[in-house]
Amino acid sequence: MRCWRRRAAAACLFVALSAALALRSPAEHRRPLRFASGGLKVALFADLHYGENAWTDWGPAQDAGSDRVMAAVLDAEKPDLVVYLGDLVTANNLGIPNASLYWDRAISATRCRGIPWATVFGNHDDMPFEWPSDWFSPAGVPPVHCPPPSPSMSVSDCSFRGTPRLELMTSEINGNGLSYSSNGPQDLWPSVSNYALQVLSHKQDDPALLMYFLDSGGGSYPQVISSAQVQWFQSQSQFLNPNGRIPEIIFWHIPSTAYAKVAPKAKSEIRKPCVGSINMEDVQPQEAEWGMMDALVNRASVKAVFVGHNHGLDWCCPYEKLWLCFARHTGHGGYGSWPRGARIVQIAEEPFSIQSWIRMENGTKHSDVTLSS
Ligand SMILES: *[C@@H]1O[C@H](CO)[C@@H](O)[C@H](O)[C@H]1NC(C)=O
Ligand SMILES: *[C@@H]1O[C@H](CO)[C@@H](O)[C@H](O)[C@H]1NC(C)=O
Repeated sequence: MRCWRRRAAAACLFVALSAALALRSPAEHRRPLRFASGGLKVALFADLHYGENAWTDWGPAQDAGSDRVMAAVLDAEKPDLVVYLGDLVTANNLGIPNASLYWDRAISATRCRGIPWATVFGNHDDMPFEWPSDWFSPAGVPPVHCPPPSPSMSVSDCSFRGTPRLELMTSEINGNGLSYSSNGPQDLWPSVSNYALQVLSHKQDDPALLMYFLDSGGGSYPQVISSAQVQWFQSQSQFLNPNGRIPEIIFWHIPSTAYAKVAPKAKSEIRKPCVGSINMEDVQPQEAEWGMMDALVNRASVKAVFVGHNHGLDWCCPYEKLWLCFARHTGHGGYGSWPRGARIVQIAEEPFSIQSWIRMENGTKHSDVTLSS
């Protein structure tokens, strides 16, 4: 797919062609991520919610808006990596059998600029279609087209059950040489997007940063990080970083209950030490806390956690010795009419530091915060 912005279009077409040619190289052969001399810049795209109400004008219009937000942020910031923080699609509103179509559109702005990315699941990505009840009224004509019967299935499948996490992720990984995403260990399924990425030092082949991605559930199963995921994190971090020498940052979609503990009261001013620009709603946390936050707090190497999910919050607040941050609602899909943007995370290797800010669609930048120095 091509880029949607004129200026980058030619370059993007070239990259898209090269990416298509690189299709056959399996994900395991990706080049390791590495710090540049200037550091590593990561853009967080949260809650894009592609594919809503495709049978109306406003659905496709808001998808075009999301394309524009990502193009503006990518062209202004030129990040080294994009993290898609879940809810790439609103699957419960997709009257088509295969959500990968919209998932693919969500990552295309990044792919066509040749920028690598990593994804985690949100609570909307694998939901089954919710039939609008007014389609069954006298005036309502269901506009869905059920797929025709296939050789493997003699009757047409018109259930729109939602595309399972494994199918979404497998088609992303197989189709994209720039994807650093993973299906995670099988013993953690149905929780799928659990994996760690190492970022190598600018100078040597040693890791200088570890990024952990977790699936915080929702959709086809409860909104939780399970104790099995906590054990996986503990054994991974012990294995990759036994003496805690390497700084670590964490990404998932739904805020943990710890976010609610440090949150400024909804609709109140955001005061130091918290930093942000919108505080318009209560934290909507996971359903339970089964040890993930304790596991993080007990590792001095863990510096910050980044989540999406709450479109009306964009703050960072300290919690124990680490920072809990919301991203910024990036997509024009999903609830809320606050201006769209993206949280940027700039990491320096030597001396180590993490700076973050929010870049808006219109180019303005705000909410600078130091998360580690
Ligand atoms: C869904 O579409 C993707 C491409 O967008 C494709 O790779 C995948 O095989 C499709 N899945 C099914 C079940 O048809
Ligand atoms: C950009 O959008 C912000 C809202 O996020 C607004 O406060 C600001 O005035 C806008 N700036 C420009 C130059 O349009």
